[in-house]
Amino acid sequence: MTKGYQMPDGFLWGGATAAHQVEGGWQEGGKGLSIADVMRAGSKDVKRVEDPAVLPGQVYPNHWGVEFYTHYKEDIKLFAEMGFKCFRLSIAWTRIFPNGDEATPNEAGLAFYDDVFDTCLAYGIQPIVTLSHFELPLKLVTEYGGFRNRQVVDFFTKFAEVCFRRYHDKVRYWMTFNEINNQTNWHDSHPLLQNSGLVLDDSDNWEEAMFQAAHLELVASAQAVQIAHAIDPNLMVGDMIAMGPIYPLTAKPKDVMMAERAMRYRYYYGDVHALGAYPVWLERYWAKKDIHVDVTDADRAILKAGAVDYVGFSYYNSSVVEFKDDNPDMDYDESVSTVRNPYVPRSDWGWQIDPVGLRYAMNWMQARWHKPMFIVENGFGAYDKVEADGSVHDDYRIDYLSDHVLQMEKAVVEDGCDLIGYTPWSAIDIVSASTGEMKKRYGLIFVDANDEGEGSFARSRKDSFYWYQKVIQSNGEIL
Ligand code: BG6
Repeated sequence: MTKGYQMPDGFLWGGATAAHQVEGGWQEGGKGLSIADVMRAGSKDVKRVEDPAVLPGQVYPNHWGVEFYTHYKEDIKLFAEMGFKCFRLSIAWTRIFPNGDEATPNEAGLAFYDDVFDTCLAYGIQPIVTLSHFELPLKLVTEYGGFRNRQVVDFFTKFAEVCFRRYHDKVRYWMTFNEINNQTNWHDSHPLLQNSGLVLDDSDNWEEAMFQAAHLELVASAQAVQIAHAIDPNLMVGDMIAMGPIYPLTAKPKDVMMAERAMRYRYYYGDVHALGAYPVWLERYWAKKDIHVDVTDADRAILKAGAVDYVGFSYYNSSVVEFKDDNPDMDYDESVSTVRNPYVPRSDWGWQIDPVGLRYAMNWMQARWHKPMFIVENGFGAYDKVEADGSVHDDYRIDYLSDHVLQMEKAVVEDGCDLIGYTPWSAIDIVSASTGEMKKRYGLIFVDANDEGEGSFARSRKDSFYWYQKVIQSNGEIL
């Protein structure tokens, strides 16, 4: 047992999920096809393939998730047993607008989330909602080209408005785009599709396409902030940044400078979201690289007026870069600039484990963005073993979470960081977003299902469930 610090009164302890990773029910209640519905299963060595449609004979693990669509009452009851004060989930866009471009929303989809939220509220659990968590309607990709098309901004803001109007008295905290900055790594098509619905071909300037789509998402997000405030000034709309500090490999000045370049490149999205304007360096970078992004005066006004109310972020790991002679301009490209950190361990999936990096990152964000923060994801993907009696002794997950929560508490109590809450990833086992695996487990609650979707889907409490229950009961003191 580790001794932690008590968190301020009203601190929102909870857990997180995303619709496509837990719900299943991919054709229930009038739901349309999302990009997650056409992603095949992969593994840590095999990338997920995105199909243009659901193809016969292929395995699409998001079609079943962990069947939250039919198990949500039981799941929320278990969250209440853990003591959750809040539960982060996403609304599947395709339950509300099945193709994304309909004139009117789908009532069955809206009613589903009414019931999910009411169930939470009956237990005193606040729903925390992400609007777009890697779940774009497929039609917006195949027929509209994703967020490189301004019409998709309108579809998104309409979706956001429908949700704010319907749920504003049930949901106070919202986020617009999950891990918007994950598409920074433009060499990998997967995050581009997940984030902004981009499918690139050889004629595309990859970096330009990414900046353009991200720009329109930033505009859509800023518009959503304004719509929410007009509907209900009590609503808090945040961004959602994938945060992992990037360290220099050594104290060589060029390594240090390289890390600074990497940080500004990877986190400019947060600058725009929180400060309402593009950083000067980025517009110079575009000019130098002959990158053309259509940023209108009207867009700039929207960005300025739509700064987020808080910074939601995920934290899993940190990374390290080193200066290389063949990159004298110190441009950041995750796939070539990043090297292994010799000072931290790694998970079975190669993710570097660095709890201190969480405290470092919180201080960095507080000083840069001056906003309240919300840790909406933090967790450990690992193989779990079910014992003969059904128990799961996931002490490795408890160690990971305990070490991170302690650093979070130091950031709040010792450093004065302003933190709204903490929702570890994940409240319950989910289908991994990057690999499509079930066996890369994150949950505090075990779900009896394998990578092929076979199993009883019965829920059981892992050791981490009981550990987290004590954390919440002691308001963070018993870790
Ligand atoms: C974040 C996502 O990238 O990390 C989640 O917001 C995801 O959707 C989580 O599940 C862990 O990543 P992965 O790829 O291991 O599932």
